[in-house]
Amino acid sequence: MSELDSLKNRALDQLGACSDESTLRNWNSQYFGKNGEMLAALKKVSELPPESRKEYGQQANIVKEQLSASYETALKNCLEQAMLKSLETEKLDISLPGMVPPAGKLHLATQTLRDIQSTFAEMGFQVFRSREIEDDEFNFGLLNMPPHHPARDMWDTFHTTDPGLILRTHTSPGQIHVMRKFHPAPIRVILPGMCYRYEAITTRSEIMFHQVEGLVVGTNVSMTDLIGTITAFTRKMFGDSRQVRIRSSYFPFTEPSIEVDMDCIVCGGKGCPLCKKTGWLEIMGAGMVHPEVMKNGGYDPAKYSGFAFGMGPERIAMLRHAIEDIREFWGNDLRFLSQF
Ligand code: DAH
Repeated sequence: MSELDSLKNRALDQLGACSDESTLRNWNSQYFGKNGEMLAALKKVSELPPESRKEYGQQANIVKEQLSASYETALKNCLEQAMLKSLETEKLDISLPGMVPPAGKLHLATQTLRDIQSTFAEMGFQVFRSREIEDDEFNFGLLNMPPHHPARDMWDTFHTTDPGLILRTHTSPGQIHVMRKFHPAPIRVILPGMCYRYEAITTRSEIMFHQVEGLVVGTNVSMTDLIGTITAFTRKMFGDSRQVRIRSSYFPFTEPSIEVDMDCIVCGGKGCPLCKKTGWLEIMGAGMVHPEVMKNGGYDPAKYSGFAFGMGPERIAMLRHAIEDIREFWGNDLRFLSQF
């Protein structure tokens, strides 16, 4: 009995000296573990003479209950203390502004494409997508550039390992696809998409870029319709007061061919670095669909006429946001892209 007493006192003293969770848990295994002292004391009952067993057993159980209750209380207090301490050190200020998770957004090229598309949609144009891998015939031949035509030099071409299959150098072959697919006229479509050119990459030229092609085919479609459409587009994209200037040009698939400028959005025509002191910014090539191209699309040029245009949305975005280097578009630098 006195052994039980001294076990109890020793255990309680030690328990009182435990300062943290781990010493408490060590205490617990010292007394209540598999080979723990408390269990050993309980087992001792079988070694005693029968007349002492009952009293010893009862007393041992009381000690066991006391010790385990003291342990539970001590552990609970200790954990509570630890939690209060951590609340003190890791104070949570719920009035602080929240952390906004970074959100993705559309690429500037996509934003610009969508702006262009909705501007033309308001004017009744539909969107038609055509293939990025073309054959030579569609990219050049059917656009009035037979093999060896010198104008082919205007478009440096990526060839595939399949003879005759190339990456389209412009969206103009889509004109043929649209005319062959949609009969009879009227046709009023834009064709947005990626184009590829085998060129040196510089601040002004990239090997991949978008174009938006436009095509209108009908009866009595004229140059004034073309100029009116382009002027309306320019004013919707760049502001109501924009002026448009038409220069004559050459493309094999249009006759006559023009290039379209608008007055400089920075200086309004006075001359500045953006317009290289000319007062004008070039925004697209265009023209009346060449009779040969019309025929190749399955339309009789004696009955039908049409106009076409082609522009570079990256260039449009560069003008709108004063971006000086086209390489920013596919450089994937988020510091650039996240500004838009
Ligand atoms: N395809 C021409 C280019 O890549 C742009 C162009 C010019 C398209 C005149 C047209 C057009 O539809 O009429 O340079």
